Amino acid sequence: MTLPIIIDCDPGVDDAVMLMMALASDRLDVRAITTVAGNVPLRLTSRNARMMCQLMGRGDVPVYAGCPRPILRTPVTAEDFHGKSGIAGLDPFEPDAPLASGHAVTFLVDTLKAASPGECTLVVTGPMTNIAAALVLDPSIAQGISRLVLMAGADSEGGNITPFSEFNVYADPHAAEIVFASGIPATVMSLDVTHTVRAELPRIERLKQVKTEKAAIMVRLLEAGNVMEGRWKEGRKSPMHDPSTVAFLLAPHLFEAKATTVSVATEDGERFGQTRLATAPGGPHDWVTSADADGFFDLIADLMART
Ligand code: BDR
Ligand code: CA
Repeated sequence: MTLPIIIDCDPGVDDAVMLMMALASDRLDVRAITTVAGNVPLRLTSRNARMMCQLMGRGDVPVYAGCPRPILRTPVTAEDFHGKSGIAGLDPFEPDAPLASGHAVTFLVDTLKAASPGECTLVVTGPMTNIAAALVLDPSIAQGISRLVLMAGADSEGGNITPFSEFNVYADPHAAEIVFASGIPATVMSLDVTHTVRAELPRIERLKQVKTEKAAIMVRLLEAGNVMEGRWKEGRKSPMHDPSTVAFLLAPHLFEAKATTVSVATEDGERFGQTRLATAPGGPHDWVTSADADGFFDLIADLMART
């Protein structure tokens, strides 16, 4: 049986790796991809998502463009980590398939309202603007969502865009607060775990042994990610932020989590965009605390071998 998913993303080098994994898997039914402004402006995230579909031979997957800016704050981008095109390592091209017609938020509302209870899993690897807007437009869409799998936030690890804040939450903290406060069950891949899974050279070497065209594309993305990461700290390899979401869906046994309730600091100041975990145990959010990094890369190699 395949798992129906909708992916909301802002490609992004690591979003591109995540899309390759999802589109390669015969256990995931990618119903649609929705895009949001984040790492680069919306026009580019929307093109990049379609590029990845075409490279994976999946031009049939509809890509809907969503919100071009966050709810309240000034837009921020992350070209320093993803390149000017948003997809460092690949030569940009205009994909054959156009964008699907209609706004991503309208698509989400219409699809999730019509879905059977808990039918869809939502993978979210960018700022949460589209999901929050859909929830504001029609809170009843929660009925169609079985789980959110989010790349968002940081606790013990500290931030990557400020000392306290992770990029996706910092880029639209008000949206993230709406999504967490909705109480929809969520698995949260934060920097606490993604920083423990990095594209170390032996792992890339292993992927190079997989002699498929798709594996070669993946290697280019991972190597480009490493160059960008190394600019910030010499020798440091790029973390598998967004790919963690799909890895979790395909191999949950690779991860450990604790149940909690997450909220977001939306007041101005140095902690703007920080995720906060409730002190009382339990809650709707599974905060992932550890991952089997080698198992993770075995999964990637396996997926790329089969495409
Ligand atoms: C997140 O921020 C973006 O730059 C990445 O694509 C990832 O989604 C990591 O903080
Ligand atoms: Ca992303």
